[in-house]
Amino acid sequence: MRQVVISGSGLFTPPHSITNDALVESFNAYVDMFNGEHAGLIEQGHVAPLAYSSSEFIEKASGIKHRYVMVKEGILDPEVMMPLIPERGSDAISLQAEMGIEAAIMALEQAKLKAEQIDLIIVACAYTQRAYPAMAIEIQRALGTRGYGYDMQVACSSATFAIAAATNAIATGAALRVLVINPEICSAQVNYRDRDSHFIFGDVATALVLEDQSLAQSDNHFTILSTRCFTDYSNNIRSNFGFLNRCDPSTAHQADKLFHQQGRKVFKELLPMIYQHLDEHLAENSLTPQAFKRFWLHQANINMNQFVVKKLLGDEVTPAQAPVVLDQYANTASAGSVIAFHQFSDDFKTGELGLLSSFGAGYSIGSVILQKQ
Ligand code: COA
Repeated sequence: MRQVVISGSGLFTPPHSITNDALVESFNAYVDMFNGEHAGLIEQGHVAPLAYSSSEFIEKASGIKHRYVMVKEGILDPEVMMPLIPERGSDAISLQAEMGIEAAIMALEQAKLKAEQIDLIIVACAYTQRAYPAMAIEIQRALGTRGYGYDMQVACSSATFAIAAATNAIATGAALRVLVINPEICSAQVNYRDRDSHFIFGDVATALVLEDQSLAQSDNHFTILSTRCFTDYSNNIRSNFGFLNRCDPSTAHQADKLFHQQGRKVFKELLPMIYQHLDEHLAENSLTPQAFKRFWLHQANINMNQFVVKKLLGDEVTPAQAPVVLDQYANTASAGSVIAFHQFSDDFKTGELGLLSSFGAGYSIGSVILQKQ
């Protein structure tokens, strides 16, 4: 079996940013508008009044302070509350491909590779902007890579599951060099009218180059020692968006077509699964948590990440052992742990270990054990 390495990573940060305060101001303006319009029904007890959101709650409950978005227009307008993204013609490059390409070019540069040396592209993210042709094949054409490409969706675990798929493809010889790309336009699936979730997501694109170690042209890489994937069905994080929506016009635009979750239940149910998954993954590889320099964890909730690292390492944990990027980027679905890896992996010395892990809807959990070469 071939040894597989990650030899490049890339990060594309969208041009527009939104602070908690700006988001809360627009949400609260919407609340005033709604409560004013429904004042009579609220007074009669037929409609529940909406409550204000607050920046203090958001930061304390999630760790999020800020997010980036591809298109800001519309999001903060209490009459609109969604990004207004003009549709492009079929001959123009699509928005999601465009941001994925930016991240991919950076990852290729780091790996010292040209696009034509790649023979598989996997676009792995929570949503793709159309059913087909695959975003990966559009990016293949735009970059000039060889071989084949496909899209895959496992919500927040899309990147780790794609790393596992790419590792298997290289190990078995189906491909020699793979680009895993995570273009996330989460803002399009946020319900900005929902107090429980209006603050959670941001947009971003990340990319990784994986290749057969014997072919690697950069000596700055991480060997993939092991990957592990786990799923267990749950409705607690869900979006009913899909190709059948239009077939029931009475429900096609209802709020369940956007992201919604039972945040508390997710927290309670997912944490034990993450503990068990990581325990088993480390045990299978005869490793203890103390053997790791860093944990690049999924970026959904800072409190959840602190529970995970404290369970692994005890109370004496430094921020460098589990870096946080969600304060700036918010939850970026599949891309969060890859942003953390991209931004916090330069200081590794030969032989040091790191663990990249994601967890989220499905439920799905993925983990990748990496060793610096
Ligand atoms: N502003 C102010 N108060 C708010 C609020 C907001 N935007 N949203 C909710 N609240 C209130 C609630 O009404 C509740 O009030 P109550 O105690 O009077 O009933 C209180 O704050 C606590 O709400 P709760 O939903 O229990 O908060 P939480 O501490 O669970 O935090 C999440 C919410 C979503 C941040 C948290 O549950 C979470 O991140 N869970 C993990 C989710 C996850 O990982 N998902 C994966 C997604 S891909």
